[in-house]
Amino acid sequence: MEVEERTQETAEVSQRDLSGVFRYYELAKRAEWQVKELPWGELAPIPEYKGSPQKLARRRDLWRSVITQQLQADELAVEMATQLFAIAPDRDAKLYYTTMVQDESRHTEAWLQLIDEAGGMAERDPYLDRLAQQVLHADTLEEKVFLMQVFYERLIIPRFRMIARSSRGTILEDLCNRLTIDDGIHHGAGMAYERVLLEHAGARIKDKLVQAANRLLPTFAKHALWRPKAREFIGSLMRETDIRMLREDLEQGIRLAKSLGIDVSDIELPPELS
Ligand SMILES: [Fe+2]
Ligand SMILES: [Fe+2]
Repeated sequence: MEVEERTQETAEVSQRDLSGVFRYYELAKRAEWQVKELPWGELAPIPEYKGSPQKLARRRDLWRSVITQQLQADELAVEMATQLFAIAPDRDAKLYYTTMVQDESRHTEAWLQLIDEAGGMAERDPYLDRLAQQVLHADTLEEKVFLMQVFYERLIIPRFRMIARSSRGTILEDLCNRLTIDDGIHHGAGMAYERVLLEHAGARIKDKLVQAANRLLPTFAKHALWRPKAREFIGSLMRETDIRMLREDLEQGIRLAKSLGIDVSDIELPPELS
């Protein structure tokens, strides 16, 4: 962000109404939980099956890979939340981000513990790392809040519900239920803050936001369709479902952008969808 813009923005800070964001600070404080509250030692970490050793090993690799992706996502979320905390110029937004930094650290702590119980790390998704780098290097606060909180944290919620549904009675299910709530708050807070930020933003900031989204979408598509070796056999079966979900995700993202007053006519869908 250029210096003159930043100065102008800081001058506007006092006139901004941050009550919407502050409400999410209070909500986050009420929803706070501790990793030690998870049913460690009482429930199985991941679903248990019966069958041949090969089948059991394959299932285990599958869950390890699911957990590794979530661990990776939350590790990156710590970095992004920390950056938002550092650069947000408004007092109440900064206060809110203290809770998000703590949430993402706590999520990482829980996944690290769970991956140990599930048998260790699996393969990382290279596109998820690239996605996070793009957000961390985006020019403006408006772009970062949009890409991470408005877009990504909204899309992750159905994924948590899906994992919880297929892992009933495990620590993994319990954790996914908690993350559904936390990321709902992260997304809500991001919507509230983005609305405030865009209220005072000129056409140039909004154009840059659309350009940033267009730069990110091809990587997002690759991330959505990527399958580690442990899940390749599912990947080929699920390619059609993956493409349908990717399309729904992007349509949802476009609806959210529209609701924030962004002109979405220049959004370019990734080649996988055309
Ligand atoms: Fe998280
Ligand atoms: Fe989050």
